[in-house]
Amino acid sequence: MKQYLLLGQTLSFSGNPLLAPWENVTHHNSAGGVLITGDRITAVDNADTQKRAHPDATIVDYGDALIHAGFVDAHMHYPQTRMIASWGKQLIDWLNTYTFPEESRFGDRAYADAVAADTLDLALAHGTTTLTSFCTIHPESVDAFFGAAAQRNMAVVAGKTCMDRNAPDTLVDTVKSAYDDSKALLEKWHGKGRATYAITPRFSPTSTPDQLQTLGDLWAENPDCLMQTHLSEQLPEIAWVKDLYPTSRDYLDTYETHGLLGAKGLYGHSIYLEPREIDRLAEVGAAVVHCPTSNTFIGSGLCDVLGLARAGVAMGLATDTGGGSSFSMLRTMAAAYEIGQLR
Ligand code: GUN
Ligand code: ZN
Repeated sequence: MKQYLLLGQTLSFSGNPLLAPWENVTHHNSAGGVLITGDRITAVDNADTQKRAHPDATIVDYGDALIHAGFVDAHMHYPQTRMIASWGKQLIDWLNTYTFPEESRFGDRAYADAVAADTLDLALAHGTTTLTSFCTIHPESVDAFFGAAAQRNMAVVAGKTCMDRNAPDTLVDTVKSAYDDSKALLEKWHGKGRATYAITPRFSPTSTPDQLQTLGDLWAENPDCLMQTHLSEQLPEIAWVKDLYPTSRDYLDTYETHGLLGAKGLYGHSIYLEPREIDRLAEVGAAVVHCPTSNTFIGSGLCDVLGLARAGVAMGLATDTGGGSSFSMLRTMAAAYEIGQLR
């Protein structure tokens, strides 16, 4: 099989630098080599060792450039690519003023195709090879995203965003159509090539309890799918959830009681968590997704990443474009560092 040997500086990790001394789990090699056999990385080692072991490999020498694994953006909204940097509002007003009108356009397959292609090309240009994206309520928007990812052989996670209340008429589904459309889409896309389906209730304020329950049922019927949503991003949002779900113990409970808490669940933002919520997320192995440029741009707050890591909560990092202000995971890491400083 054809082999390539990429030469340059390499960087890799063997543990979580938030929990172990970073010097012990961060590995930098100023003269590294990455061996590719067919379409797989088969070895990462010193350049000299690799050259001796694989004299027939075609060498691609990147000098002192840094060779790194592709970045994973664990929470973003591809339908918001054209409204990035829409400023001057906080979450609920921002959704109603900018986001919902733009998302209403994604029933048009040609428009969805164009934005999906732009988004994936922007991501690749920034070194991001895997994206976990919300789509819109329109099944066309899901086909567009998975189709564009397949054309680029990208491993993506996505799902139809479900909303049956508190959104404009152009952007609501029903309990039944959320279940039926999500089921049809996951049967079509989940596990096809490199695609993973995520059952996607947008967040508790835009779903009725019945809709959350039907999506919880769908997840129980398809437990190898992921589930993505939003949790405790802004204080007025949390107060609104309390009004809408008066019997719930806390925000996470609105998901938990409807079958939407699990190890394959991704909970975007999760800034203002109660101790019970942190314990439950850690116990079930669910993941919080930190969205630092969004949390500053929309004015949400400073997530306690270190506290969550020490409590045993799994975590991902994400741009959350278009609430987030950059497609770059490098810029996103810098923002996470800055938020750590502010805390
Ligand atoms: N909460 C519910 N929907 C959204 C969204 O589209 N972006 C962000 N940042 N938060 C949300
Ligand atoms: Zn989001």
